[in-house]
Amino acid sequence: MCGITACVAEGDVVDELLTGLANLEYRGYDSSGIAVPRGEADVSVLKRSGEIDALREAVAETVPAGSIGIGHTRWSTHGPPTDENAHPHTDCTGTVSVVHNGIIENHETLREELRQRGHEFTSDTDTEVIPHLIEEGLDDGRSTDEAFRRAVDRLEGSFAVVTLCGGEGSLYATRRGSPLVLGLDDDRQFLASDVPSFLEYTDRVVHLEDGDVVEVGPAGYRVTDTDGDRLPREPTSVDWQPEDAERDGYEHYMLKEINEQPQALDRTVRGRIEDDGGVSLSSFPPGSFDGVSDVQFVACGTSYHAALYAREHLVESGVRAHAFRAGEYATTPTPVTEDTLVVAVTQSGETADTLQSIRHARDEGARTLAVTNVVGSTAARTCDDALFIRAGPEIGVAATKTFSSQVTALSLLGERLVEDLTGSPSEDRAERAAAFRRLPSDLTRVLEDSTVADLADRYRDRDAYFFIGRGVGHPVALEGALKFKEITYEHAEGFGSAELKHGPLALVTEETPVVAVFDGRHEEKALANVEEVRARGAPVIAIAGEGSRKVRELADEFLPVPDTHPDALGVLANVQLQLVSYHVADLLGRSIDKPRNLAKSVTVE
Ligand code: G6P
Repeated sequence: MCGITACVAEGDVVDELLTGLANLEYRGYDSSGIAVPRGEADVSVLKRSGEIDALREAVAETVPAGSIGIGHTRWSTHGPPTDENAHPHTDCTGTVSVVHNGIIENHETLREELRQRGHEFTSDTDTEVIPHLIEEGLDDGRSTDEAFRRAVDRLEGSFAVVTLCGGEGSLYATRRGSPLVLGLDDDRQFLASDVPSFLEYTDRVVHLEDGDVVEVGPAGYRVTDTDGDRLPREPTSVDWQPEDAERDGYEHYMLKEINEQPQALDRTVRGRIEDDGGVSLSSFPPGSFDGVSDVQFVACGTSYHAALYAREHLVESGVRAHAFRAGEYATTPTPVTEDTLVVAVTQSGETADTLQSIRHARDEGARTLAVTNVVGSTAARTCDDALFIRAGPEIGVAATKTFSSQVTALSLLGERLVEDLTGSPSEDRAERAAAFRRLPSDLTRVLEDSTVADLADRYRDRDAYFFIGRGVGHPVALEGALKFKEITYEHAEGFGSAELKHGPLALVTEETPVVAVFDGRHEEKALANVEEVRARGAPVIAIAGEGSRKVRELADEFLPVPDTHPDALGVLANVQLQLVSYHVADLLGRSIDKPRNLAKSVTVE
């Protein structure tokens, strides 16, 4: 979950490194640093704890320069966020510098060995063993390439590593289980954890594979396997525009991303829904899932809520489907057969627990499918098949537009699964399809008419917040509570409405607003649950279709969404909840795009 950036060019690269780091800050941001050459053989390292501005100030003071350099933004896993623990890390001589993302599992053994051979360490990180291992290779008279390979051979765990050695005109890098992409410009080449790092410079990328070792110079690159044999790795173009990854005048990326959901959803469904409501997924024609007996979703965080949401449709239509939190699935896997379809739902395609789950399922013989936003991501390449949600880059740590696109893409996939597994379409296929086709315009109405900003002011200062719902209202309530706690730092919990009286009701008072999500089904029961919390004096904020008269009358606050099919209505209701979280967090002055302790992409288990 740290971010790596590196550049080699004809001219100075410090600006490129700082831009690359700023673009990657969403991956982790408790410290950052860069290394560039100094003199004939040394490297000069500048690193600071805190946000990237601290590094910018240091750069302004010392003015480092060089036509080759590496950079890193860190999210701590080993050792606190101090200047010493920030990357890059160096060897004893100060000529080898390294940035790293991931975890070196055998770092303690290696550190002890190296210490016994006289190496001195200056940080608590697992990373620091790498430059010392390279140093030993160089001391033995090996080339940088060879010394790098030898060092990497000794590492266990999952990692992406880039090294800059003093006096060298090339960068050396590798990946194993952590993302690393190459960006190719005419006279300037980049390495980074993710494409947005260099998107304003080039859209030509090479997605490196696990085990690849790459040497990158100003004029080109060479990819080899661990034995040094050349590998063909051709560049492709990404269709993300640099402005897609910029704030476009919004105060926060999160608000921009909430507001661009109509366009994102338009891309998600474009060309994928037929006039009669059937789905047209080019990689999954009818019959693609013949022989599949059951579906297991694995996912984390917001993606898990999208998976729970998707499961509702399948189960209602007679398909055996389960949704698992990938962290738990990876620890205690549920049995699969070769007829099980395991669907990894992951925006980034790089979440370690989700990857671990699909690797396990694949090894057990199950069929695997990634539903992801990132073409070329590890999940897309690890699974047998991939379905892309086409949401465009999401920078805010709190997922917003990708949830809506995940639910929509999963709904299309769900229809194909229902048809293939049960032999007939969903009962209400035409109505569902029409509702998802209408979703971009319905969502535009929600965004234009929302009165959430006023409501946020009235409820910003309470003891705790509860979110409840039934049907797809349940995953939406869970997602609403997750978003709320992520960015407001206030206590928020989501429950299925029926669970409330089995414990959480003890916490409900007049100081705890209850946000109730109505999906248009189960209305009588859901209203009865609302009565239960009203009887304890809790203010009720209800979100429902605009025609839901009873809900409107019962609730203290009513946030309407256009009346539509329940499965699309949940997406609209969730957008109101995104706005509730956003406005309360804004009023409380929270760090909305980069909430404390969280990272966008969690690449450690
Ligand atoms: C982190 C992010 C969440 C995200 C989760 C899963 O926890 O902060 O917003 O939902 O990872 O990420 P993925 O990329 O697998 O969807």
